[in-house]
Amino acid sequence: ATDLTGRHFLKELDFTPEEFRHLVRLAAELKAAKKLGTETPRLRGRNIALVFEKTSTRTRCAFEVAAADQGAATTFLDPSASQIGHKESVKDTARVLGRMFDAVQYRGSGQEVVEELAAHAGVPVYNGLTDTWHPTQMLADVLTMTEHCDKPLSEVAYAYLGDARSNMGNSYLVTGALLGMDVRVAAPRALWPHRDVVERARDLARVTGARVALTEEVADAVHGADFVATDVWVSMGEPKDVWDERIALLSPYAVTMEVLRATENPGVRFLHCLPAFHDLGTAVGREIHARHGLSSLEVTDEVFESEHSVVFDEAENRMHTIKAVLVATLAGG
Ligand code: CP
Ligand code: NVA
Repeated sequence: ATDLTGRHFLKELDFTPEEFRHLVRLAAELKAAKKLGTETPRLRGRNIALVFEKTSTRTRCAFEVAAADQGAATTFLDPSASQIGHKESVKDTARVLGRMFDAVQYRGSGQEVVEELAAHAGVPVYNGLTDTWHPTQMLADVLTMTEHCDKPLSEVAYAYLGDARSNMGNSYLVTGALLGMDVRVAAPRALWPHRDVVERARDLARVTGARVALTEEVADAVHGADFVATDVWVSMGEPKDVWDERIALLSPYAVTMEVLRATENPGVRFLHCLPAFHDLGTAVGREIHARHGLSSLEVTDEVFESEHSVVFDEAENRMHTIKAVLVATLAGG
């Protein structure tokens, strides 16, 4: 049986395919139990630190609700409310938090920061997003795919369009490779994942039987896909002045109804980790609209609001999958 007690959750590549699938199955069980009102709290008396150096809606709420459902308490630390990195080293912070908490979630820029926390905390550390990986998001995406596609994962094809050099681009590439899936990435070459990530994915694919394709052609990537996914074109922490360049590079990779039709799969589903620029009604969106006259960026409002879109299932599944990580690493689930 798979036992993940005491394990960190830092990146997808730290897990075997079976371990990753175990977490997705556990999440499905926990989700069903919550809906039936039969959930058993297995984390009573536990304390979890939530350290955020970048903003969040879903990840923070997912950890807080998941912990509360399981009887654990959380402490939220935002960048302005902790000494981490500014006045106190990551290593010292790790050793302090490890004395008080049973686990630590970290969201920030550097993957090396979450790795260093893990090296010194003495308790499980979870990566709630870095510039390089977004592994808890991938658990939610895979759970959502299993819910919306009857085929075994090894027969599921998905295409990721847009900024593929980001955390989501990297995570989609390696997760599909890990799980033996058919992964297609369509992006301008300048925004393909770094070569070492591509090599890791190709190495994995040789073992798992996954198909991994990188292309600049949207039509090639999406044909026959069960899922089409995208993400914002500029990620948190990137300078504001890259917007113009990204819009120029990535406009051909926007997910439109035409792109969904090009899958030739009437049941194709649309995924997005959110937040999404499907309309430009937010403060950042209005600025982009004023500058570029666009009404959407990586996905049109029509696709986002269509019956193809499963983005809110995906968002809900952040909570069930993060709960699975907590239960598996802290209660031997
Ligand atoms: N998808 C995701 O990680 O959302 P938040 O940034 O709101 O946590
Ligand atoms: N790539 C995005 C994901 C947000 C959940 C970012 O890092 O901002």
